[in-house]
Amino acid sequence: MSSSPDVVELLLAQHERIRQLFADLESAQSDAKQAVFDELRRFLAVHETAEELVTHPRARTLPGGNDVVDARLEEETESKKLLAAMDGMSVDEPDFDRQLATLKKAVLDHAAAEERDEFPLLTEGLGERQLTVMAAAVRAAAALAPTHPHPSVGSSMTTNLAAGPLAALVDRTRDAVRAALGGPASS
Ligand SMILES: [Fe+2]
Ligand SMILES: [Fe+2]
Repeated sequence: MSSSPDVVELLLAQHERIRQLFADLESAQSDAKQAVFDELRRFLAVHETAEELVTHPRARTLPGGNDVVDARLEEETESKKLLAAMDGMSVDEPDFDRQLATLKKAVLDHAAAEERDEFPLLTEGLGERQLTVMAAAVRAAAALAPTHPHPSVGSSMTTNLAAGPLAALVDRTRDAVRAALGGPASS
């Protein structure tokens, strides 16, 4: 047994973190709510980008994997659209809670579908070494969106640093994953 978690264990832990951040958003107010939302969207952007580069391509090579991954990518595209529509949005805007509820349902349904249909393919179809190498790539990506303990007080400095367009973060995630997998970084 390896002492470090394999890629499925790591992604399951990330799904738990995503569920927790959505739950925290429901009780947080104002600055603290903004800080949680900024953390959530960064974490989601990195998580989904890592899955698109690390787990989905491997799942495609396994029996039945193509259909499973096609469905997951459709769901991820939907989540990304919803997330992009909320990029730069303030939690105080009148439409925020409605859009957040739509995003939450899309993201959590998608995570549940991965856990039900895709992760078992990986666990059953790949060896421990492959699962560990993939975990290293997901960890390299996750380092770009560190998670924090509950932000009880919203610091405007922290909030400002965490806010903003996600495209640059997605690019850096792609480079980190490719480097960890031994491929060339994008230009
Ligand atoms: Fe995903
Ligand atoms: Fe996921």
